[in-house]
Amino acid sequence: MHVFIAGANGQIGQHLLREIADSDHGARALVRHLDQGPELQQLGATETVLGDLEQDCREAMKGCDAVIFTAGSGPHTGPEKTIAVDQDAAIRLMDTAKAMGIKRFIMVSSMRAEEPDKGPEKLRHYLRAKHNADEHLKNSGLNYTIVRPGQLTNEEGTGKVSVSARLADFGKIPRQDVARVLLAVLDSDNVTNRVFDVVSGDTPVAEALAKL
Ligand SMILES: NC(=O)c1ccc[n+]([C@@H]2O[C@H](COP(=O)([O-])OP(=O)(O)OC[C@H]3O[C@@H](n4cnc5c(N)ncnc54)[C@H](OP(=O)(O)O)[C@@H]3O)[C@@H](O)[C@H]2O)c1
Repeated sequence: MHVFIAGANGQIGQHLLREIADSDHGARALVRHLDQGPELQQLGATETVLGDLEQDCREAMKGCDAVIFTAGSGPHTGPEKTIAVDQDAAIRLMDTAKAMGIKRFIMVSSMRAEEPDKGPEKLRHYLRAKHNADEHLKNSGLNYTIVRPGQLTNEEGTGKVSVSARLADFGKIPRQDVARVLLAVLDSDNVTNRVFDVVSGDTPVAEALAKL
């Protein structure tokens, strides 16, 4: 597949480019600044394209047959940016993908996004934005997978995870392992139109997804 990656310059995004470089898939990395291009191509992007998720990305997506959304406004912006990027930009990208006939859409969401009002108070606006984007995706008619990681860390990945439609206990997961899960999702038939939580665990990624 030729995969459009929203958030390619981010921390998960960069791990994902390295993973995709060793796969049969190609990656088109969306960047906000042209000078980000050479480094991302060195990591594994097949190509880079300039764009902003708060604008129309139709041109940037032409020729792709899947989308992975791993963008985010980050922890240092206010609630308006969270709504603008994590919710509205994600929804716009889904609608654009649908209109263009790009059928596969993989979303990096967050554990606890299904019940935002039960999350920690300072995270509720973020969880609500993720929740709204996830609900839009589920009702979009796209072939979706919603991956809900626990707290992200920068530790080296182990390649082993715990996945379930709903994990009772909150946990952590290295960004590198989230990237491995995203690549495995691209290659798995049984995770289409599925939503699952993922944290570090004892089961190799492919095996964990196969058992879902
Ligand atoms: N932090 C956690 O514990 C946690 C837990 C669960 C899920 N998540 C989710 O994990 C995902 C990625 O995490 P991460 O750590 O890799 O994030 P990150 O390093 O902050 O990367 C976010 C990326 O989004 C891009 N971006 C933001 N606004 C954009 C826009 N308007 N147009 C284009 N690109 C834009 C940024 O671009 P620039 O590089 O140009 O700034 C950056 O590359 C997010 O969806 C986040 O909500 C986080």
